[in-house]
Amino acid sequence: STIKVAVLVGSLRKASINKRLARAVERLAPKDIAFEYIRIDSLPLYNQDFDADYPAEGKRLKHEIEAADAVLFVTPEYNRGIPGVLKNAIDLASRPWGTNSFAGKPGAVIGASIGATGSALAQQHLRNVLAYLDVATLAQPEVYVQFKDDGLIDAEGHVASEGTQKFLQGFVDRYVAWVKAHAK
Ligand code: FNR
Repeated sequence: STIKVAVLVGSLRKASINKRLARAVERLAPKDIAFEYIRIDSLPLYNQDFDADYPAEGKRLKHEIEAADAVLFVTPEYNRGIPGVLKNAIDLASRPWGTNSFAGKPGAVIGASIGATGSALAQQHLRNVLAYLDVATLAQPEVYVQFKDDGLIDAEGHVASEGTQKFLQGFVDRYVAWVKAHAK
């Protein structure tokens, strides 16, 4: 049966290199893995008052994550951390208290940046958050993609560098095995 992966990309911009990285990973995955891109640009800013009466978009987000067998985070690095839009989505999905939608899901964190660190510090920050939220994140391989050349991955997820494609295929193979071993 098909395994559903909820994909959360931490960038809203059209030409996002992280959206392109997510598409590349999707292309390299086997046909029994369905990638569902979760919308986060329509979410309100989290407010703890919501916990008494959750907004419709927050409920929609929670349902989409709960319906998935696994999660995949593809994040840029903003000032050495994860972008606020992604943290906002995570906070919304984690509440109201006692209804954390991520609990028990297997997942992974990958990302790209134009800087030499390839989003490594943002990913480490995110792994810390996800450990608390009971997401079992794949440890290796780590995927820190530096976009020195904007043509590295196109909008459809075609990878221009054979070395990068091979590396990403190695990640996908490990990720799929991880998800199959841990999905409930
Ligand atoms: C950045 N960028 C960046 N890059 C990096 O390697 N480390 C960093 O700490 C930051 N900080 C940062 C802050 C802010 C507010 C912006 C807008 C950008 C550059 C970043 O890697 C680049 O803009 C990427 O293209 C962002 O990813 P998307 O949106 O293309 O997926």
